[in-house]
Amino acid sequence: MTERLRAALDFASNLFREDSSGHDMDHTLRVYRTALRLAEEEGADPELTGLIALLHDVDDVKLFPGTNPGLEHAVSFLRSQEVSEDRISAICQAIRQISFAGEDSVVPDTPEGKCVQDADRLDAIGAMGIARAFAYGGAHRRRMYDPAQPPKLHMSEEEYRSSKSTTINHFYEKLLQLESRMNTESARDLAAARTAYMRGFLEEFFSEWEGKK
Ligand code: ADP
Ligand code: NI
Repeated sequence: MTERLRAALDFASNLFREDSSGHDMDHTLRVYRTALRLAEEEGADPELTGLIALLHDVDDVKLFPGTNPGLEHAVSFLRSQEVSEDRISAICQAIRQISFAGEDSVVPDTPEGKCVQDADRLDAIGAMGIARAFAYGGAHRRRMYDPAQPPKLHMSEEEYRSSKSTTINHFYEKLLQLESRMNTESARDLAAARTAYMRGFLEEFFSEWEGKK
């Protein structure tokens, strides 16, 4: 890990420690590790990929609504590291492209942005995705499942953000669709395995719900 990546890691850890439960740093670190693995396989620049990964949530609209429009945390960190303004713009552009959700999502225009977006999406599926979905559902006091509430497909970012449906619906509304939205070949393979694992989980969940197992 370069000095600059270490500094970015410390910067993100401090922000998340002050402003939330600290769990988002765990997510950031998983995204960082996966993004670097993808970058290596895809021939993307590792330092740029690492910086985008470590900074991708430091101006998250849910945690830091004040700094989100200008990505002020990311920009002030990068200026403190004397990163060139061109490189800062490229990093900010990637961070913005990564965070669009639902039908409004966009494909980042650099290989580094693509790797981090894939890593961010991979962290929402598989065993990690199941765990995060139920953790989110619990924190927001959502029902796990309600057979009377069918999933709503193709939501815009706004509908997605305001949706109050069950945690099981979230698998159909978002998580099972992520596999088809991967940018890189390497991520597609990982996404296929993680999605198969979630489908197995859902099958088991419904069998147990019905008292069939
Ligand atoms: P991101 O901006 O990275 O997509 P979100 O805040 O949308 O992050 O989601 C954070 C985590 O919480 C993800 O793992 C996501 O799948 C999960 N999550 C988001 N919305 C829901 C929901 N309605 N029900 C269950 N899990 C959710
Ligand atoms: Ni993220």
